[in-house]
Amino acid sequence: VNGGAGADGRHGALDVVMEGLRRLEYRGYDSAGVAVLTPSGIESRKKAGKLTNLVDELAAAPLPRSLTGIGHTRWATHGGPNDQNAHPHLADKGRLAVIHNGIIENFAELKAELSATGIEFLSDTDTEVAAGLIGSIYRGLVDSGASGDLLTQAMQEACQRLEGAFTLLAIHEDQPGVVVAGRRNSPLVVGLGDGENFLGSDVSGFIDFTRRAVELGQDQIVTITPDEVTITDFFGAPAEGREFHVNWDAAAAEKGGYDSFMEKEIHDQPDAVGQTLLGRSDAAGNLVLDELRISESILRTVDKIVVLACGTSAYAGQVAKYAIEHWCRIPTEVELSHEFRYRDPIVNEKTLVVAISQSGETMDTLMAVRYAREQGAKVVAICNTNGSTIPRESDAVLYTHAGPEIAVASTKAFLAQITAAYLLGLYLAQLRGNKFRDEIAEVMEDLAAVPAKIQAILDDAEKIKQLGRDMSGAKSVLFLGRHVGFPVAMEGALKLKELAYIHAEGFAAGELKHGPIALIEEGQPVVVVMPSSSAPNSLHAKVVSNVQEIRARGAITIVIAEEGDTSVEAYSEHVFYVPASPTLLAPLLTTVPLQIFALALASAKGYDVDQPRNLAKSVTVE
Ligand code: F6R
Repeated sequence: VNGGAGADGRHGALDVVMEGLRRLEYRGYDSAGVAVLTPSGIESRKKAGKLTNLVDELAAAPLPRSLTGIGHTRWATHGGPNDQNAHPHLADKGRLAVIHNGIIENFAELKAELSATGIEFLSDTDTEVAAGLIGSIYRGLVDSGASGDLLTQAMQEACQRLEGAFTLLAIHEDQPGVVVAGRRNSPLVVGLGDGENFLGSDVSGFIDFTRRAVELGQDQIVTITPDEVTITDFFGAPAEGREFHVNWDAAAAEKGGYDSFMEKEIHDQPDAVGQTLLGRSDAAGNLVLDELRISESILRTVDKIVVLACGTSAYAGQVAKYAIEHWCRIPTEVELSHEFRYRDPIVNEKTLVVAISQSGETMDTLMAVRYAREQGAKVVAICNTNGSTIPRESDAVLYTHAGPEIAVASTKAFLAQITAAYLLGLYLAQLRGNKFRDEIAEVMEDLAAVPAKIQAILDDAEKIKQLGRDMSGAKSVLFLGRHVGFPVAMEGALKLKELAYIHAEGFAAGELKHGPIALIEEGQPVVVVMPSSSAPNSLHAKVVSNVQEIRARGAITIVIAEEGDTSVEAYSEHVFYVPASPTLLAPLLTTVPLQIFALALASAKGYDVDQPRNLAKSVTVE
C-alpha cells in the first residue's frame, strides 16, 4: 500500500504514488492500481500483472494532475490476480476509493449484510467489502447530518467492525487533500514531508521524498493532509506515533550498477556484517548491547531459549542454535513461528524468545511473539526494519544494519541475522559468566575479520557463476551439510527453489543413508558444504565418507571447502574454496557461493531473480 497527499504542487500525487509503488513492488506483484482525486471526482486505473502493465495503461489513458492519491501492488489472497480484483476498489457510487493489505476474516458476513442493503460487489475480494462498509458508514454519517471529518469517522467505525489483519487507505471526493488509513496487524508507516505527507507499507514507499518517518501502533487510524498528521485509536481517542529518522537514502534502494537487487545485495554482505558488528563491543572485546532493554537479572535466570522465525530467517536461527548452546550452555530450540504458535508449547517467565525477522512484519512470527509474551516469556527481536511491528511488540530489539533488502529472496539479511544472533549469544555468555567467557574477545576478533573474507569470495566468484550457468538445465540439486553446514545446505536449496524453480533439498549429511540416498542416481548434482579439516572435533572425515557414498552411486559433487583443503579434490567434480574460519563462523562464508550459484543458474534460465513467481517480500498474512 502506498498513499500520498501533496499540496504545494512540488510533487503530484500520481508521481509520488507511482514512485512509491516502484519501490514497494517487491512486496507483491500480481497486480497494481492507483486512484487520484480530480476536480471531477475519483479516477482510477488498475491492471493485472507487474507494475509495468499499469505504467502502460497510464500512458494509454493518462490521469490528470492531482494532489491526493493512493496506489497498491497486490499479492493475491481472496480472488485471482485479474484487473477486476486489483485495487483500488470503489464504493459510495464511485466517490470513495480504498486499497487494502491483509485478510478480512469476517468479510463473508459483512458482504451478506451490505448486499442486503442493495450494495453490489464487482470483485471477489475482501477489500471491496471493506470499501463497501466504509462507504455505507460514510453515507450514513452524511445522511444523519454528522459534522467534522467524516472520512476519518467512517474509517474508525469500519475498523471497529473488521476482523483479521488489515491496512486500509481511503480517499473520498468530498475531502480533497485527505488520505485516511486504519491498521491492525498489518504494516503502515507515515512519511513527514514539507507541505506534503505520505503513507507507505514501509519507508521505501516515500524514501525519495523524505527520511522523517512515524511508526504507528496497533489498532490506529491516521489522517494525513498536506500539513497535518493526526493519529487516533479506532474509537477516536488521540494517539501518538514514534518518529524516527530513516538511516539510509534512496540510493541504498537502487541497484547501483548491478543487474539485479539480489546481485547488489550479495555484494552488500561485507558491509551488512560489518555494520551489524559496529559499536557493539568495547576496545577490550566486551559486548556492549545497550539496546537490549531486558534487565540483566532476568537474562541471568533464563533457562531456555526459543528462536522463532520463518524461511531463511529460521535457517539463521538454526545456525545460531549451535553457537548459543555452545557458548551459553542454555538449551536452545528453533521453531518455525507458525508451528510453534498452535501447538501449546512450553514457554514461561524463564524462557527467552528470539524472534528473527528481516521485515519485522511476518504475520506468523508476530503471532508467535504475541503468544510467547502472553505466556510470560521475554522476547528479543532481531530485525532489519526500523518502524516495523515485531520490534515494537517485543521487549527489546537488536537491529541488523544490513540496509534495505529489496530482492525478494533474502541474502544479506541472512548473514546479518546470524551476526546479530551471535552477538546476543556472546552477550548472554558474558553476562552469565560461564567458562566460555575468556574466549569472547577472540570470537569478536574472528567476527571482525569476516567482512574481508566475504569480500574475497565475491572477488573470486567467476568459477561458481560459470558452474551455475552450466547447470541451468538441472532438474534437481541436493545439498548436504553437517553441524552449522546443515542449515547452510537448506538455505542453499531454498535459494535455488525460489529463484530457479527447480527441485532442491538440503539434508544433514549423516541422514542421507537413512533414506534420501535412494534419490542419488547417475549424474545427480549434489552440493556439499565441507567442514574445516583443522577444527577441533572436526566432522570433515565423516562428511568425506558421506561424499564417497554418493559418488559411488553416480552423484556429481560440488564441494564448498576451506582454503587449503586440497584433500577434497580427489572426490569432487567441482571445488570452491572459502577462506578459513572457526567452525561456528563458517556459515557467514560458505553461504555466499551458494547464493551466487543460485543467482547465476536462475539468471541463465532468464528468470526475474528479484521478483520470483508466487512470492512477496513480506508475508503479512498467516
Ligand atoms: C527466502 C525468504 C523468506 C523469508 C521469510 C521470513 O529467501 O526471504 O523465506 O526469510 O519469509 O521473512 P522475515 O525475515 O521478513 O520474517
